[in-house]
Amino acid sequence: MIEHLKTIRDNSFDLSVTSPPYNKRITTRGWLVRDVKYSHSDDAMPEEDYQRWQIEFLNEMYRVMKPGASLFYNHKLRWLDGKLHHPFTWISSTEWNIRQEIIWDRGIAANMRGWRFWQLDERIYWLYKPQKDGDVGKELLSKHAKMSSIWRFPPEPRKENHPAPFPLELPVRIISSMELPEGALVFDPFSGTGTSLVAAKLLGYSYYGIDISPDYVDYTRKRLRRSTQEAQQCKQEVAKHFVKKPFKRRKEEGQTKWPYRDLSEDAK
Ligand SMILES: C[S@@+](CC[C@H](N)C(=O)[O-])C[C@H]1O[C@@H](n2cnc3c(N)ncnc32)[C@H](O)[C@@H]1O
Repeated sequence: MIEHLKTIRDNSFDLSVTSPPYNKRITTRGWLVRDVKYSHSDDAMPEEDYQRWQIEFLNEMYRVMKPGASLFYNHKLRWLDGKLHHPFTWISSTEWNIRQEIIWDRGIAANMRGWRFWQLDERIYWLYKPQKDGDVGKELLSKHAKMSSIWRFPPEPRKENHPAPFPLELPVRIISSMELPEGALVFDPFSGTGTSLVAAKLLGYSYYGIDISPDYVDYTRKRLRRSTQEAQQCKQEVAKHFVKKPFKRRKEEGQTKWPYRDLSEDAK
């Protein structure tokens, strides 16, 4: 995949939403976990090699994303031989600015065992490529007013022999939150079942995906052809977050309360 990325010109993409394989190296399973196995990769590298690979990947992504573009990178905390491997460790040694760490509360644990409290969360890192020194990106506008840094929706069940597809909500929420130019190009370098690409298409953008598995690529092509079947789900997600007045204006008009406990009420 990195070889493929190297053939892509600098500053090519407006937004990326992706989730790499997690190097789960599963040998023992909790009772909820079925076979977490991709069709053409085994997700089992020595952890040091895996982290090096991810750093190289993220830096290559930095090169191909446009200045001012964001990469949303989904990962999770993992323990190998009792030792915590936190994605922040390798992300913070890449060129990206970490704009936010979002907690994805999936409401269900993949592996229920007694070693620690059940892990319901994954993380989504909002990574930003500044246009110049000190650039922190645009202020969020009205569409984002109801959104906090904790996202709650369940994972998508296995699809087309793929153990870990995104739920459509995830890329729809991200893509519809960004102010993208007309004709923007959305990229998923680990596209799997093509969820990010379908979301981009339904929201009217161009898309580009890569996956090592020809089976998933075939499935993605078919899924994109019949993407209108998912249009309603996409619309529902967008509608959940839309508010008429941006936060800044509500604040100016004294319509915000403190503390901002119930964001949905506050944003009406
Ligand atoms: C977590 S899944 C992505 C799922 C995707 N977000 C979806 O909605 O279906 C990771 C994907 O990376 C792919 N993959 C694994 N190694 C790869 C590599 N070296 N290059 C490209 N894709 C790879 C797997 O086939 C798998 O589909």
